[in-house]
Amino acid sequence: MNTVFNKSCHPKMQEIADASVNLIFTDPPYFQYRAQNVKGLKNHKDVVTEFEFDGFRSEKEYLAFLEDVMKESYRVAKEGASGYLFCADDFVSYLNRIIEAAGFKVRKVIHWHKTNPFPAISSRKMFANSMELLIHFSKGSPATWNHKPVNEMHNYRHTAITKADIEALIEKYHKEDKIGQLLALMKEAVGKDTLDNLIENPICMGKERTRHKTQKPLKVCIPFIEISSNPGDVILDPFMGAGSTAIAALKTGRNFVGYEIDAGYCDLMQQRFDSFMLQHPGFNGEKPKIINLSSI
Ligand SMILES: C[S@@+](CC[C@H](N)C(=O)[O-])C[C@H]1O[C@@H](n2cnc3c(N)ncnc32)[C@H](O)[C@@H]1O
Repeated sequence: MNTVFNKSCHPKMQEIADASVNLIFTDPPYFQYRAQNVKGLKNHKDVVTEFEFDGFRSEKEYLAFLEDVMKESYRVAKEGASGYLFCADDFVSYLNRIIEAAGFKVRKVIHWHKTNPFPAISSRKMFANSMELLIHFSKGSPATWNHKPVNEMHNYRHTAITKADIEALIEKYHKEDKIGQLLALMKEAVGKDTLDNLIENPICMGKERTRHKTQKPLKVCIPFIEISSNPGDVILDPFMGAGSTAIAALKTGRNFVGYEIDAGYCDLMQQRFDSFMLQHPGFNGEKPKIINLSSI
């Protein structure tokens, strides 16, 4: 427990027992480093070659690999486990289908609004990319839902229309039709404080930031982990990167197991584990560790 293996998650994940994980929280490679964004820059070729497509030779190979990882994730997930998977907008519908083909139910695509997006290159006449997506899925019906006040996710006060608004819609437009009947059923079922599929937070900056190029902020990871798991639960992240899922798990009293193929990123993660342990002398969970298997 609380272990990251410095090894490819596939096929290493086959060692995890069936139905043993409460939550999957992951951020796979995106099959891009937005190489197209730098094409307008002088000498861009020298830069682009360094990042090419996360090591996959084709889009087909990339999607087939993620399909294998999602099938294994389904096998190791407990009934009722939730999952969250970060992805870029260009692959979201493919990934939804892959997640469903593995056996999960896709529940909602969540939008992370990055309030300090990387600026667009002005000569490209493009909008800056201020949204990143997070697919929420589950094995069966989610066993855990620890509701949060919506203002912990963003600052809009009212995001969902109220029961009174629904009643007004029925009265004005749908008194006689099937939509009115459906709205009436929904009106009875909606809660008071709806969480919508939006979280607002800056990208990782300041002290939290490591040199990992796609590090996710803890403030984006932690709310979903708290909503969909309980203290003591086990979280799986097949693509740990600089270990944000692991740190979020430690900070919230969950356990984790994960993989990271890159030894340099494992070093960053080890530094984060060390500073977590220094800052939490009373930590009474299992000490986080990284097992180096890259030479095997
Ligand atoms: C998008 S990043 C994850 C970043 C992470 N969420 C964080 O906040 O630090 C994806 C990571 O997956 C790793 N990776 C790529 N292929 C892998 C594989 N087959 N097994 C395990 N890790 C892999 C990459 O080295 C990269 O660090």
